[in-house]
Amino acid sequence: MAIGILLVGGFGTRLKPLTNETPKPMLPVGGLPVTEHQLLAAKKAGINTVILATSYLSEVFTPYFGDGSKWGMKLLYAVEKEPLGTGGAIRNAAAMVGFTNTDEEFVIFNGDVLSKHNIAAQLALHKERGADATLHLIEVADARAFGCVPTDTTGRVKDFLEKMDNPVTNDINAGCYVFSPSVISEIPEGKVISIERETFPQLVKSGRPIYGYREQSYWLDIGTPAALFKGSRDFVGGDFLAGVGTNIAAGSSLTGGTSIGSGSAIGAGCKISNSIIGNGVVVGENCTITDSFILHNSLISANSEIIGKYLSPNENLPISTK
Ligand code: GDD
Ligand code: MG
Repeated sequence: MAIGILLVGGFGTRLKPLTNETPKPMLPVGGLPVTEHQLLAAKKAGINTVILATSYLSEVFTPYFGDGSKWGMKLLYAVEKEPLGTGGAIRNAAAMVGFTNTDEEFVIFNGDVLSKHNIAAQLALHKERGADATLHLIEVADARAFGCVPTDTTGRVKDFLEKMDNPVTNDINAGCYVFSPSVISEIPEGKVISIERETFPQLVKSGRPIYGYREQSYWLDIGTPAALFKGSRDFVGGDFLAGVGTNIAAGSSLTGGTSIGSGSAIGAGCKISNSIIGNGVVVGENCTITDSFILHNSLISANSEIIGKYLSPNENLPISTK
């Protein structure tokens, strides 16, 4: 069965300071790290072996995911001392399982995407077409921040244009690719390579069979604060969601798709709206928390007012008091 590679080594620059100590894919959405949502999606498609291609803050992943047995999966960790770019990371990760000796396809996931597309159907299309690579494509209103991927009437990819000012199509690279092992050999070893700016354009230019798999299902790149909140609200799907062992004292009101992780405690009389609160967070009485992200193990003193703030665990409050 296909082998998964999760690209989780980026710096998460647009989400600082949240990503100062927590890599972007480990940020919680609806109480679970983004990576966990992706592993569950991979498993649903029958992918049981996944390599996490890590670099920045690589040490944060292993204590949480271990060998993957908790999820009934086999997880491996490929660590880049210096980030190798998306292409270099794929090559480095695939080498862990000896890509030259396998016929298995690789399924590569950008590590910051929540997608409900049918991965098994994407794999099936790849095999049916005898493709070298098959990219999940979706249509967006504004393609400028993405990889633009024009296709012909048969679905064959005609070009790959990363982040253009004047997009030639609204079909974009949704960040999930099926690769035949032969494509991995095309990526130079031990070098910083961008799969989007180097490998894809070269493959297309040299006439390799690269196809698009178009499916317009739920899809979100959580790479900006607004998107992260949206992803969490979408997952909660109601007023709020709280994890195992979280205690919410009487008289508190939780609204706007707020998500609280496990083992946290919310004091009496708090008003929390459209916020993401991690695991093991203690919020004192009568706090107001709106549009804010509070990471794991933070302590918030009673009567704090936190509006539009992103707090890392070491930034214990009070920031401002009522
Ligand atoms: N291991 C590793 N090493 N991972 C990396 C590296 C690296 O050097 N650089 C980036 N990544 C990971 C990031 O952690 C992220 O999960 C993924 O690769 C994509 O990087 P982003 O920085 O999030 O790229 P983007 O959002 O601007 O654009 C990408 O995603 C779009 C869809 O969301 C591109 O693939 C676009 O073509 C695509 O449309
Ligand atoms: Mg991204």
